[in-house]
Amino acid sequence: MNLIDKFHHWRRRRRWNKQYRKGRWESLKSDLEANRYFQIREFLQNYASENPSILDLGCGDGVLNERLGDYQFEYFLGIDFSSVSIEKAKAKNLPKSEFESVDVIKFQPKRNYDVIIFNEVFYYIPDSEKVRVMNLLFDHLNPEGIIITSIFREGIGCWEYFKENPKLKEIDFTTVTTKKETTYWKIGVYKMK
Ligand SMILES: C[S@@+](CC[C@H](N)C(=O)[O-])C[C@H]1O[C@@H](n2cnc3c(N)ncnc32)[C@H](O)[C@@H]1O
Repeated sequence: MNLIDKFHHWRRRRRWNKQYRKGRWESLKSDLEANRYFQIREFLQNYASENPSILDLGCGDGVLNERLGDYQFEYFLGIDFSSVSIEKAKAKNLPKSEFESVDVIKFQPKRNYDVIIFNEVFYYIPDSEKVRVMNLLFDHLNPEGIIITSIFREGIGCWEYFKENPKLKEIDFTTVTTKKETTYWKIGVYKMK
């Protein structure tokens, strides 16, 4: 990243912390958002190995983990660069789960995962870092592992990294709609070729 990008990135992290402190992201727990999480859970049930290890990038305060309900996993790591959201996630004491305050672009996985999830975070990774971050994560995906990506509305400048990625094949894709016409998410599931 050049200096200007670094500055914007730093400022963005401060903004997320401020917003989590003020409760701005409590909206992620609303009924309007629920089906997005349920769709991810359905994809996990359909395509992940049994009892998988899960890496949730940009996990916020752990809403996806909570929404998994009685879905069985062996281990769950949520990372987010907002220390405020991570403190909130940790306070929930979610079983078999750990949460770590770390930037996706600095994250060095200490193990491999069966599932890697970009849930409403991919667009925040600076363009200059996207390919490098993805390649590092691919190296930490178990054989037959899956990548799940959820992106709000059209996700301009995002889907090509998945749909046109020569290393990936798409195994499912859907649009989650809501009663609000302008609120929808596209969610894809990928495997390594
Ligand atoms: C729209 S929220 C989604 C939160 C969560 N994935 C969910 O859907 O419940 C986006 C999250 O990405 C995090 N984020 C943005 N850029 C990040 C980065 N470079 N590294 C780690 N987390 C990041 C923000 O702090 C925020 O928690």
